[in-house]
Amino acid sequence: MSQLKKALEKAKKEKKSFVIEGQGHAKGIEPLPKDRGVSSEMKLKEAPGRDAVEVPPPTYFQTRCVQVDPEKLVDRKVFSILQEDEVGDQYKLLRTMVLNRTRPLGHSTIEITSFREGDGKSLTCVNLAITLAKEPRQNVLLIDMDLRRPTIHRILGIEPKPGLRDYFVNNTPLKDILIHPGIERLTVLPAGGRMDNSTEIIGSHRMENLIRKIKNRYQDRYVIFDVPSLNTCSDALVLSSYVDGILLVARANHTTTEDITSGMPLLKDKHILGVVLNDTEISRGWTY
Ligand SMILES: Nc1ncnc2c1ncn2[C@@H]1O[C@H](COP(=O)(O)OP(=O)(O)OP(=O)(O)O)[C@@H](O)[C@H]1O
Ligand SMILES: [Mg+2]
Repeated sequence: MSQLKKALEKAKKEKKSFVIEGQGHAKGIEPLPKDRGVSSEMKLKEAPGRDAVEVPPPTYFQTRCVQVDPEKLVDRKVFSILQEDEVGDQYKLLRTMVLNRTRPLGHSTIEITSFREGDGKSLTCVNLAITLAKEPRQNVLLIDMDLRRPTIHRILGIEPKPGLRDYFVNNTPLKDILIHPGIERLTVLPAGGRMDNSTEIIGSHRMENLIRKIKNRYQDRYVIFDVPSLNTCSDALVLSSYVDGILLVARANHTTTEDITSGMPLLKDKHILGVVLNDTEISRGWTY
């Protein structure tokens, strides 16, 4: 049985909306030892940070502020915005696992990619970013680095521009392309429009400097990057040199064994945080 099928079976049994599997350098999707897997204990215990104290939410002097509509977010399946929700609880579990696998190492920059298009990367990015932002020990910056097919602005219901495109094409300063969507501790950097030469942009010195600047300037933040899938272009691979870890998304009844077998070798020696199995059975109409 393929690793994905095994994970699917396990998820079905546990009725999870997704599960996270595997960690370490990519050799294949290796199941975690039992005591590191999905368990109620992990819901309760999060790894303490190097300094496990609350960080104050950012004060926005220059960043544009808007107020996203929570009802519309829920319509677009951003269930993490709700206070109490079964799917939201699954994202909390994902947050715990991400924090446990990054905090002890002082890691905070994560790219989310998948084996093929439509696996649910962007939705996972938004839900994870909001769930991380609810936790008072870090602020969060969500960056739409899918410069070929940006969607983060659409999911959040914010203006698509200005964004990264303006930074690269019009020299718009970083402070002018950030946006606070009215969700405490969350800042968003939209793509600002499509860029067909995205791979060259992502691999450029300017991008490297931008990411370095973001890391230095926002040391209290987790930075989540939404990127294209591994089968479409090399953007995710190019960006992987700048980030601390990669979170993969596979979608039930969508990602195939072939997708995984051709995608995994590309990730050899990359630091994989795990695989999120998206869109599995849970008692909500929008899953299968
Ligand atoms: N768990 C889920 N249940 C129901 N619908 C989902 C789920 N996850 C994603 N979707 C829907 O599937 C579509 C694709 O999701 P999303 O845009 O997040 O995928 P993606 O991997 O970012 O796609 P792309 O490769 O085009 O960037 C969206 O309409 C989204 O709302
Ligand atoms: Mg996407």
